[in-house]
Amino acid sequence: MSPAKSTVLVTGGAGYIGSHTVLALKNAGYDVVILDNLVYGHRDLVENILQVELIVGDTGDRPMLDNLFQSREIAAVMHFSAYAYVGESVTDPAKYYRNNVVGTLTLLEAMLCASVNKFVFSSTCATYGVPNVVPIPEDHPQNPINPYGATKLMVERILSDFDVAYNLKSVRFRYFNAAGADPNGLLGEDHNPETHLIPLVLQTALGNRDSISIFGTDYPTPDGTCIRDYIHVNDLAAAHVLGLEYLLKGGDSEVFNLGNGSGFSVREVIEAAKEVTGCEIPIKECDRRAGDPPALTGSGEKATKILGWQPQYPSLKDIVSHAWEWHQKRHK
Ligand code: UFG
Repeated sequence: MSPAKSTVLVTGGAGYIGSHTVLALKNAGYDVVILDNLVYGHRDLVENILQVELIVGDTGDRPMLDNLFQSREIAAVMHFSAYAYVGESVTDPAKYYRNNVVGTLTLLEAMLCASVNKFVFSSTCATYGVPNVVPIPEDHPQNPINPYGATKLMVERILSDFDVAYNLKSVRFRYFNAAGADPNGLLGEDHNPETHLIPLVLQTALGNRDSISIFGTDYPTPDGTCIRDYIHVNDLAAAHVLGLEYLLKGGDSEVFNLGNGSGFSVREVIEAAKEVTGCEIPIKECDRRAGDPPALTGSGEKATKILGWQPQYPSLKDIVSHAWEWHQKRHK
């Protein structure tokens, strides 16, 4: 590998999307330092697979952050760490506002104090709320319908204001449904508790769950179940490296949707998983889950145009196959 490029601080680098991005950064020749409080992150993946420095701590810990920035030459920050359970954000919003908003504000202030002004932020299509149109364009109104989405929108607003006032340059990525796993089987999705569709379907295929619940079969979609734009986690990781390079080259603040521009229904995901795994996947038709819009898709055209992003794994079969390889190893 060529000599290390700049050092990037990756918060939440022990989590799902963060860990895949750390691997992509390493492969691109960057030095990485991870900051993760390990509430949901995985130490074993950092130590055994990623093998980069891990600082265990919270983004709200200003003295720790000041020490971190003073003792290293950090060129940019990628900020993944956030709580991301939509349901919990409704029942315990304080946890979300404190960590996702106050923690991020503290991190941004520490960056400014250390003259670090490049920031790549994990935002979400949940900031749009129920869309008026799909695929959702980046300039669609943002009206989140839960505290999780609201926290991400607040940070987006902070970033706009900090650019104007303090010249903090940011790339904000609004992800659609992150899914899949590292195609080489090194990393994957491992949430506890797990609430996302694809991992739950695969746990059912493995026999670790009796059935998969389909939340709502009467949506105004062709088969009555919700449609989501599943985007491969390695494609997300690649976008982050491009976003970082864009900022390091002096790019202005920008916001990008990261999606494939089309979606799959819950039933289509279950069918794809049956095909990939060759296993029976019993289903249970249930009531709608509160707060689920019928269809969410978003095009990555702007990211393609400005960053040169080209998703490598848009096929649902690839996404589910890679996830399946990981799940068999990790959860059997
Ligand atoms: N679903 C089921 N059964 C399940 C789990 C999910 O039918 O057991 C359905 C959901 O109702 C939804 C679809 O599968 O229609 C996908 O659900 P996920 O929970 O996998 O993901 P979401 O679409 O809820 O993702 C949302 C936002 C993201 C956000 C994420 C936070 O789209 O931007 O929640 O976890 F980041």
